[in-house]
Amino acid sequence: MRQYIVAGNWKMNGNEALLIAVREALAGVETKAEVVIIPPYVYLPSATQHFRDTNLVVGAQNVSKHEEGAFTGEISGLMLRDTGCQYVLVGHSERRTMYGETNEIVANKFVAAQRVGITPILCVGETFSERGAGKTMAVIEASLEAVRAQVGIRGFGKAVLAYEPIWAIGTGVAATPEMAQAIHADIRKWVAKYDEGIAKNLQILYGGSVAPLNAQALFSMPDIDGGLVGGASLKPDGFAEIVAQAK
Ligand code: PGA
Repeated sequence: MRQYIVAGNWKMNGNEALLIAVREALAGVETKAEVVIIPPYVYLPSATQHFRDTNLVVGAQNVSKHEEGAFTGEISGLMLRDTGCQYVLVGHSERRTMYGETNEIVANKFVAAQRVGITPILCVGETFSERGAGKTMAVIEASLEAVRAQVGIRGFGKAVLAYEPIWAIGTGVAATPEMAQAIHADIRKWVAKYDEGIAKNLQILYGGSVAPLNAQALFSMPDIDGGLVGGASLKPDGFAEIVAQAK
């Protein structure tokens, strides 16, 4: 049985007060999900502190592909681990499009996270025009293949995937549960070509305009194992509603 994960990606939003508000909103909420809060880097240590006696875990939004050295402004996997961070996003579409992260760089970051025992959440997804051109799976497979080339299919045994259609991110227009399910099933099939056991256990989250009103329908799909939530994770009560729908 795959456990649900509901992860809140704050992007460059939030503050200390939001950490506390989220903790309070989620206290006592019944869910089958592991809940991961992904604030900006500087809040990771205090997030770990605030969540100490809760079920909430902490993730980062990015990691350097390097272990240490002269890389001004970068943060290494070991540093993340020091903060108590258990997950890290790699390959979010905003990093790919605004910061030039290629599939190869993303795969390097995936490896950097696993090297220190942090679970990468690998984000993959297509643009609107790629979908229109029938290239959705080709785009996703290229991202997956870049990782497989570096760590083999076994690398997916200690990772989480997030299918995030780029046209659905921050637009208020989520993929329908059926559309998302179809891609999740195809991703799982791709992994199963190499290793059925890993495919069966791989948690694949959906991301892109997840909200209190659509979470239940998405999470009830057989291959959707939770959500990567952006904008809606900044509203503690709404986020708690989403978390409660993982059941
Ligand atoms: P959204 O963002 O929920 O605001 O669409 C999702 C994401 O970018 O991870």
